[in-house]
Amino acid sequence: MAVALVVAAGRGERLGSDRPKAFVIVAGRPMLDWCVDALREVPAIDQIVVALPAGEQAPAGCIGVPGGEVRAASVAAALAASAGDPVLIHDAARPLVRRELVERVLGGIDGVDGAIAATRVTDTTKQADADGIVTRTLERSSLWAVQTPQVFHRAALEQALDVSPDVLAQATDESWLVERAGGRIRIVESSPENLKVTTPRDLRISSELLLERTTRLQSTGQPAVGRLGERC
Ligand code: CTP
Ligand code: MG
Repeated sequence: MAVALVVAAGRGERLGSDRPKAFVIVAGRPMLDWCVDALREVPAIDQIVVALPAGEQAPAGCIGVPGGEVRAASVAAALAASAGDPVLIHDAARPLVRRELVERVLGGIDGVDGAIAATRVTDTTKQADADGIVTRTLERSSLWAVQTPQVFHRAALEQALDVSPDVLAQATDESWLVERAGGRIRIVESSPENLKVTTPRDLRISSELLLERTTRLQSTGQPAVGRLGERC
């Protein structure tokens, strides 16, 4: 059976709120609770472990562990407290995740070391030097903006995390760590709706989308189905 690790131990400095980001209220509930609900709906997941900031509690039924200084250290702490294979990792900062996406990412792991949710890059993307002068225009058709959930075979993730603290500190996702250990990763196409709350603007957008979702559910009893089979 699969285990889900939710990383919720960040400070949320760019959001600038008075409490850790995962515990900021979004559409009436702590941000963390929204993604935990989606993970609880997935029958293949039988354990949820949450890496927490100091002084906070895990939602009911989840195992809470103290997070680390950097994101990968929070993942390592949660992994050590967990049992299960494969291991799915999700950012508490992505409260709009849906059961459907979690299940498609879990389903993407056959024959590879990991599978990750990502959206196609729609803006033309360029590289620039330190003076802001363009050095290169990237080939957009091969570019993907990466999200969570990300899922890995346990052995591949354990091996990838067994690196120096300097390398762990550089990692902005776990896929990069598995890639640098030689792992093969499959992209699973996701929707931009699964946005990461980083700034106050992201918080406003996610609140509106979650309120809309709740209202639709209350008025019809049925969530609407959007592109990629995701309800939205
Ligand atoms: N995270 C974590 N432990 C850390 C740092 C980050 O568990 N030491 C988690 C965050 O709680 C978040 C996810 O990793 O759910 C993505 O990180 P990010 O969006 O950068 O969140 P914060 O680090 O909280 O925000 P900021 O960088 O603005 O301080
Ligand atoms: Mg951060």
